[in-house]
Amino acid sequence: MHVEHAIVGAGLIGGYLAAHLADVTLQLQSDARLLVVGRDYAKCQFGPRMTISDFATPVQTRDTQNIEFVTNTSSWASTKRYPNVVWLTIKCTGIKQVVPDIRPLIGPQTIVVCCQNGIGSDAVIRQAFPDNPVIRCMFPFNVVKLNKGHFHRGSSGTVMLERLPLGQYPVFDDFHQRFSPVIDALNEQYGEVFPCAWCSNMDALLWAKCQVNLTNSVNALSNLSLKETLLDKGYRKIIALMMQEHLAVCAAQGIALPKITKVAAKFIPTVLRLPNWLFSRVAKSMVDIDPHAKLSMWWDLDQGRATEIDFINGATMIAGQRLGIDTPMNNIVYAAIKKMEKAPTRYALSAQDLLK
Ligand SMILES: NC(=O)c1ccc[n+]([C@@H]2O[C@H](COP(=O)([O-])OP(=O)(O)OC[C@H]3O[C@@H](n4cnc5c(N)ncnc54)[C@H](OP(=O)(O)O)[C@@H]3O)[C@@H](O)[C@H]2O)c1
Repeated sequence: MHVEHAIVGAGLIGGYLAAHLADVTLQLQSDARLLVVGRDYAKCQFGPRMTISDFATPVQTRDTQNIEFVTNTSSWASTKRYPNVVWLTIKCTGIKQVVPDIRPLIGPQTIVVCCQNGIGSDAVIRQAFPDNPVIRCMFPFNVVKLNKGHFHRGSSGTVMLERLPLGQYPVFDDFHQRFSPVIDALNEQYGEVFPCAWCSNMDALLWAKCQVNLTNSVNALSNLSLKETLLDKGYRKIIALMMQEHLAVCAAQGIALPKITKVAAKFIPTVLRLPNWLFSRVAKSMVDIDPHAKLSMWWDLDQGRATEIDFINGATMIAGQRLGIDTPMNNIVYAAIKKMEKAPTRYALSAQDLLK
């Protein structure tokens, strides 16, 4: 049995990735197994056939009979069957705790792909595995679970994988040769629903995504749907203020943000400040969304889990402190989320509460 790829974290991104990767690796090599490491409650999602759908294409099934689902990795240490690639699809908040769990999977030639949102969680993995190439991967679209084993992509965009400069890991200079066939196959087979590409400036891309993700915290504090949050001029003002601070921090670091949304990064705050009647016309694609959809921080608070705020707003704040740039709106929102994480019951904060 051949295990080339492992996915650690059997959640939304892990599920969408597994459905495609299992199928593609099986086609490339008939004895290829895909190892999925997840919680016991997630096992039922990873059957021999998985379903995927998206906003534009009909429901499709994937052959995932080659998935081997495990809830603990300790037995792998003795097998010495190290996957070539370990995809980490847990949240930033679980990165420190996952290190001992993935140690049995990381052999001398293993590449680790960190799929987290935000800035900086990959540093923990680099530090724990200094001799292995660690690359970052950005998922631009959101994924939700519709039914058992059915993962749905709610928006579009290309999955971006970090291209390492040659020579950084001399032993792994064949890195692209080993990894590229799978990425090419994903594109050839499933380019419509799982497009992927290499990215040479991952820092800039992740800071650009981080700007967009600042909305997450305000959606969580509003305790409303994303659509309702965005249609409130007060909440939009808060997001705009946080984004302006973020843009100043990026400029001071010399980071030129790539355009990952319809409107270029630096103009988003201006669009957010438009009056309601104009905003809903100019930013039609932002508000033309499922009226019930909520962002992940909303769900984290709802389920009593820690949020990823340290790696999103927190990243802007820490860089601001280092560079002598004030980030007052991010500070207020950060403190409000931290307070809400500890609150015994769920509550909402109005824009006026936050702007006081
Ligand atoms: N979902 C999206 O639409 C989306 C889009 C773009 C980017 N992202 C980013 O992708 C990352 C993953 O997000 P997600 O939404 O897929 O998270 P998720 O649905 O919460 O999935 C993560 C899964 O990993 C499990 N897990 C955590 N630590 C583990 C460990 N040590 N061993 C085994 N399983 C473990 C979690 O279980 P417990 O919760 O029980 O610990 C959970 O089932 C995040 O950084 C997120 O911001 C998500």
